[in-house]
Amino acid sequence: MAEKFLINGGKKLSGTISVNGAKNSALKILAALVLSNEKCTINNFPFIGDTLDALEILKNLGANYEIDKEKKVVVIDPSSINKSHLDALLVRRLRSSILFAGPMLVRFGEVQMSHPGGCVIGKRPIDMFLDGFEKLGAKIEFNDEGFKLKIKDKKLKGAKIFFSQITVTGTEEMMMTAVLSEGKTILQNCATEPEIAVLADYLNKCGAKIKGAGTSTIEIDGVEKISGSNFYVMPDRIEAGTFVIMGLITNSEIRIENCVPEHLGAVIPILESAGAKFEIGENYIITRPSKLKAISITTHEYPGFATDLQSPYTLLMTQVDGQCIVHESIFEGRLFFADQLVTMGANITMCDPHRIVINGPTKLIGKKLTSPDLRAGITMVLAGMIAKGSTTIENIFQIDRGYEKIEERLQNLGADIQRI
Ligand code: EPU
Repeated sequence: MAEKFLINGGKKLSGTISVNGAKNSALKILAALVLSNEKCTINNFPFIGDTLDALEILKNLGANYEIDKEKKVVVIDPSSINKSHLDALLVRRLRSSILFAGPMLVRFGEVQMSHPGGCVIGKRPIDMFLDGFEKLGAKIEFNDEGFKLKIKDKKLKGAKIFFSQITVTGTEEMMMTAVLSEGKTILQNCATEPEIAVLADYLNKCGAKIKGAGTSTIEIDGVEKISGSNFYVMPDRIEAGTFVIMGLITNSEIRIENCVPEHLGAVIPILESAGAKFEIGENYIITRPSKLKAISITTHEYPGFATDLQSPYTLLMTQVDGQCIVHESIFEGRLFFADQLVTMGANITMCDPHRIVINGPTKLIGKKLTSPDLRAGITMVLAGMIAKGSTTIENIFQIDRGYEKIEERLQNLGADIQRI
């Protein structure tokens, strides 16, 4: 029987919750390791569905690793990687499997993979990746399983790549692929998420020459070799933002620690303009019970309002006075979860796949819900925590993909949530 969450709503929370290492940083480092033959010790590693799948990909390629869950450490030895074919079933488990393509292409001169899977939140094409690989000198052959990339001459060659749309993993992929290419690569219209600068810092520590990561133009001078180094996974800004909204929505004072408040970009100022009260330190945020009003948002690339926090924000807006519009500008399939909030009693009207109108406040009633993807899934957990009665959430492997032992951490704050 698949696991479910059973939640009894209405509990006030108190205490401290610590933020774990960032999924969307750890995943990138795991792919970057394919560029090197030297061991890497990763500290503050989040043991979640997606990172375990990425470790499985590395193992399948021939890498060895040791894990210590207690200490949150993984030691990976990529020197035995000996396969240039990415397993189709593993690749289909997560979108970020595409990040292995560039480093594998550089390592073996070719790579075979299928179309990546991951959260169903929109079409999520990979055209900008393929375009970038071609510009760096790869040939693409489409086949039954997916596609094969092959280096046309002996080595990839530096190029100018302009991203027609801002892409986080696209920026990271081209940065990783270019570090061992010949000559200079210039990436323009890059994403500026903090995880990108952290990836560049790691690669530079290993011998790469990357300038400008974290800005919209990145310059990479190709080098001959990437060595190994240790890595500490930065705090997960999306987990931090989710917990901040959880404090506000339950009207509780909770301390969220081991986070970088600055990495939340527009989220804190927008919540403050809605009336939220916080105490903010260098690495913690304390939420204070606050009377909020509705404020419309548009999700935007960093430092704009993160699309990954749109679903908890939508839920928050069902609980406050007034009307607002939530405009999801990045993914065309990321608002459909709102239907399930409507079954609980929320007043939400969908205008088109990118826009909803929310009228609040509304009282929510516990229901049987199904987690459609990671971020909508955690939002359903929060919805269950404020609903009257009990809520059951199915498909919770989606939530486990990004949040480690979430029920235990919420129980510590006083939530009534069980995994059954
Ligand atoms: N896009 C294309 N073509 C491409 C690549 C992207 O059209 O070749 C489009 C996408 O469909 C989307 C937009 O460009 O409309 C931006 O997508 P982006 O490539 O930036 O998203 P991503 O890199 O696949 C990462 C995070 C997501 C997060 C987005 C946006 C990782 C592993 N994933 O995805 O995180 O929502 O950036 O910030 O870093 C999550 O953690 O739950 C999650 C989905």
